[in-house]
Formats: sequence, structure tokens, C-alpha cells
Amino acid sequence: MNAPQRIPVAVLGATGAVGQTFIRLLAGHPWFRVAEVAASERSAGRTYGEAVRWIEGELPADVAALTVAPCDPARLDSPVVFSALDSSAAGELEPAFARAGRMVLTNAKNFRMEADVPLVIPEVNASHLGLIQAQRAARGWNGAIVTNANCAATVAALAMAPLHEKFGVRSVFVATMQAVSGAGYPGVPSLDILGNVIPYIGEEEPKIERELQKMLGRFAGARIEAAPFVVSAHANRVAVEHGHTVCLSMAFEARPTAPQAISAIREWRGAADVRGLPSAPTLPLRYRDEVDRPQPRRDVNDGRGMTVSVGRVRDDPILHLRMVAMGHNTIRGAAGGSILNAELLVQSGIIARVARPG
Ligand SMILES: NC(=O)c1ccc[n+]([C@@H]2O[C@H](COP(=O)([O-])OP(=O)(O)OC[C@H]3O[C@@H](n4cnc5c(N)ncnc54)[C@H](OP(=O)(O)O)[C@@H]3O)[C@@H](O)[C@H]2O)c1
Repeated sequence: MNAPQRIPVAVLGATGAVGQTFIRLLAGHPWFRVAEVAASERSAGRTYGEAVRWIEGELPADVAALTVAPCDPARLDSPVVFSALDSSAAGELEPAFARAGRMVLTNAKNFRMEADVPLVIPEVNASHLGLIQAQRAARGWNGAIVTNANCAATVAALAMAPLHEKFGVRSVFVATMQAVSGAGYPGVPSLDILGNVIPYIGEEEPKIERELQKMLGRFAGARIEAAPFVVSAHANRVAVEHGHTVCLSMAFEARPTAPQAISAIREWRGAADVRGLPSAPTLPLRYRDEVDRPQPRRDVNDGRGMTVSVGRVRDDPILHLRMVAMGHNTIRGAAGGSILNAELLVQSGIIARVARPG
């Protein structure tokens, strides 16, 4: 009997904050094997161990020994490409990989809002992967680009999903407190952020507003019908290492009581197909009863960073209800989310599993 081999994958932007998270999460992954790493010309040609300023945990020895390649499809063979590229490079490079027949799973913003590109959180909107067919037809390529959302939008979308499904969100006001690791590495200068709050993150508010509408929208054949709610977002950078906190106030088509909303969040497990995938947490959402939770320091690693914690659901005197959600920005909000997307694509047969001897 031929054993299924792990699928070779390349990580683009492997030296950055999200790229490093890919390397960490893919170490020992049952379905994927990091075969190639790539970054800018600044890093190419050096071993990964030399090129990277490793931030957290152990750098796997087999990956440290790989030579960093340039981000060129002619120089990389892997059929699956995880992209943690800076947006200045992703716009040109990611389509080149899709044209070369690769499945590109990206964290960059460039293609998220294109009509034929899925923007996916597997538990929330796995059906949006149906856009891949339309994308291949429209662009004439055999590969595909699948995106995951802005990290703050991911946390908000997961927390809102059960409420939108059951009660129909009509409007939402969202204020974020976003960790410094969301700004990449080395990111925000320490003298700007220590003891401080920066009430501006470039382009973040419009991203949160439109990505929430797309993710919680409906797959209608070859396109997505955006969710009909309005969103008002405030984005703030705070002196937290990992974990974006999001305060939400919402009005609904069918106003739930706070206990009804809490039950909906507690019972929600998301799409059944996702359960049991290697990176899927047992609980995509965990409701916390403590009055002072969720907190990044205490809750950010719940579900190995894939569980979003929600708390403080209560009545709102302006809209209907308010609550707090928090999730790991480089895991659920970036690399872990991409890997879960790829696992779903393997399970649904869109990424082929190869069976070879041994
Ligand atoms: N951090 C988060 O929480 C988060 C969450 C969601 C999405 N994102 C998105 O994910 C992407 C990566 O973010 P990050 O925080 O990891 O950024 P980062 O730490 O600044 O890393 C950027 C990576 O892109 C590479 N790169 C830059 N210019 C390049 C070029 N011209 N050609 C090839 N490679 C190039 C860099 O390689 P060198 O080291 O060689 O320069 C590095 O590996 C961004 O698009 C970001 O918006 C980030």
C-alpha cells in the first residue's frame, strides 16, 4: 500500500512575522511539509537560518538549512504556496504563481476584495471557495488565489458569525485594540508604542468594514452577495505583543436578548466539514463568563491560537447588544487561518493528495 506523502509547500515572505508563524505551525504538520522558503532579494541565496531574525520558539533545523529562494515560480516547485508577502510585492508575485498552476493561500490584502477571489474563514464561509471555478475561468489559469482576511476583521467575523446567522446583523460599530505583532517585524518602533496608544493604523478601518461584509455575505453561484449590514470601525495600535481585541456594538433584524446571544455563541461550531481538520480547534469560539475576559495575556493561545474568545455580551443603550472578542492575530488572523484554508482544500479534493511509495 502506498502511504500518502506530505504535500510539499513553499512559504513566500518566510522571513517576516507571519512567514515565521507559518514555519512554526507547519513543523510536524501531518499533511504539509515545508520544502521551500522564499523572500526578497535581500534574503535570497542565504540559508534561512542566516537570513531570518527568528522571533519565537525553536527554529526547525531542517528549515534553517534551506536556502532562501527568490519569489519566482520558475525557481520554486511546490504545488501549494503560502504567502506572507508584503503587499508591495504580493500584487505582482501571487498571480505569477497562480498562472504557473499553484494554489496560493495568501495573507496579503491585494486580492481580498476581487469579485472572483474567495476571502475565507473555513468555519464561517467555506462555501465561498466555490469562487475558485469562476476565478480559473475568468483569469485563464490553473492555479488559484485564496485569501484570508485582515487579522482584526477575522476576529470580528468569527464572533459575529453565529449572531448574524441567527438574528441578522443590521449595523455594527467596532473599535479595535491591535497588538504590535500585527505590524510585522520589526514593526512599530518601541518609542512610539511603549506606554502609548496609536489611534490610527493605515488602511485598517476600510479593510475591516468591507471584509466583514464580504465574509459574512452569501455565495450566489459565481459571486458573493455582500452582507447588507453597515459597519463603522475604529482601529488602534496598543502595546500588546499578540492578540487583537475587538469591542463590538450591534443592532439586529431580530433583536436577541443577551442570554439568547450567549447561547448562540456557545452552541456555534461552524461548518461541519471543518471539524477534525488538523488545525481546527475544538471550539472556534469560546464564550467566557468572567467579567474581565477575554484578555490577550490569558486567552490568546486558546485552541493553539485558533480559538477566538468572546465575553461581556450585554445590552447596549444605543444599538441592541455589545460584546468583546479577542483572537491571535498571526495565528487565527494570518498563518493558522491560511493553513486551515489549505486543509479544507485538501479535504475537498481541490488540492490533490499525492500517494507515492514510502
Ligand atoms: N502580522 C499580522 O498579524 C498579519 C495579519 C494578517 C495579514 N498580514 C499580512 O501578511 C503579510 C505579511 O505580514 P508580516 O507582518 O509578516 O510582514 P513583515 O514582517 O514585514 O514580512 C514581510 C515579508 O515579505 C518579504 N518581502 C518584502 N518585500 C519583498 C519583495 N519585494 N519581494 C519578495 N519578498 C518581499 C520580506 O522579505 P525580507 O525579509 O527578505 O525583506 C518578509 O519575508 C502582509 O501583507 C500583511 O499585511 C499580517
